[in-house]
Amino acid sequence: MTQSIEVNERTQHRPVVLSGIQPSGRLTLGNYLGAIKNWLPLSEHYDCHYMLADLHTITVRQDPVVLREHCYEFLALYIACGLDPAQNVLFVQSHVAAHAQLAWVLNCYTQMGELARMTQFKDKSAKHADNINVGLYDYPALMAADILLYQASEVPVGGDQKQHLELTRDIAERFNNLYGKVFTVPEPMIPPVGARIMGLQEPTAKMSKSDNAETNSIYLLDPVDKVVRKLRRAVTDSEAVVRAGDDKPGVTNLMSILSACTGESFAAIEARFAGQGYGPFKQAVADAVVAILEPMQARYKDIREDTAGLRRVLREGAEAARTKADATLARVHEVLGLLPQ
Ligand code: TRP
Repeated sequence: MTQSIEVNERTQHRPVVLSGIQPSGRLTLGNYLGAIKNWLPLSEHYDCHYMLADLHTITVRQDPVVLREHCYEFLALYIACGLDPAQNVLFVQSHVAAHAQLAWVLNCYTQMGELARMTQFKDKSAKHADNINVGLYDYPALMAADILLYQASEVPVGGDQKQHLELTRDIAERFNNLYGKVFTVPEPMIPPVGARIMGLQEPTAKMSKSDNAETNSIYLLDPVDKVVRKLRRAVTDSEAVVRAGDDKPGVTNLMSILSACTGESFAAIEARFAGQGYGPFKQAVADAVVAILEPMQARYKDIREDTAGLRRVLREGAEAARTKADATLARVHEVLGLLPQ
């Protein structure tokens, strides 16, 4: 679990990838199949950065004890999923002061109206009506700082973050038009449609890591017998035919899960379960999911127990991140006319 210096040299001239996740709720099978799994091969061609966005989580109230544990848990799960700290920079947002510093600067290049239009802000202010704080409103400026500090050219995100990424691009272009080419203008890297995993009980909405209904999501740390039960009870329909279609969101979602786990195509799955109803199909989905989760959970246990090792990963990740971030921040200060230190 060490990040070697050679990695930094090897990755120096590669295009940069950055993504972030809020360490709140619990990581789901959807996070793995739809996001993390797709990140694993990226380190071959990109200089990859994955960040725990802890500063973003405090825009809604967090229990400090739970937040601390979640940071270790998410990091250990990332590594258990196969994200190698020697090939990827893994770090915590609050460890790199430049995030908050650049966010302040970007505030002065972001319009009130732009932030007020963000659907996530509207949703979250409706959900937390007693705490519509300035941070919740300003969330996208911090996210823009996260991305622009690293000169990221690609940002893997789910569809729900596309609007924030478009705002990041607008801010970067606005700043560059005033001061020259300071920031790389990032592109979204949206996962393929099939990789989008929906809820088991409500298959028309994304499987969420902060769902209130326990049976709607499969969590990466769920005991496997619970996983099997949840899949057995997943919503389907009364047609009893395994086929994909807009009229069959439950079955289509289970097919997506199976396909993402095994690499089998939809056509192959339909052929394999022709005339069999849903029982054997659901069993096959459960077997495929358990085959992934069981070894992952075993790796997780060992990794999570080594808190000192996790802290070392974060220390080295923060050092690597700071080198890049501080260079961008210094350039920003320079073009703005702020005195060098
Ligand atoms: N806002 C993102 C989410 O909730 C998390 C995030 C924070 C992020 N900073 C980022 C994602 C930078 C991509 C890039 O999912």
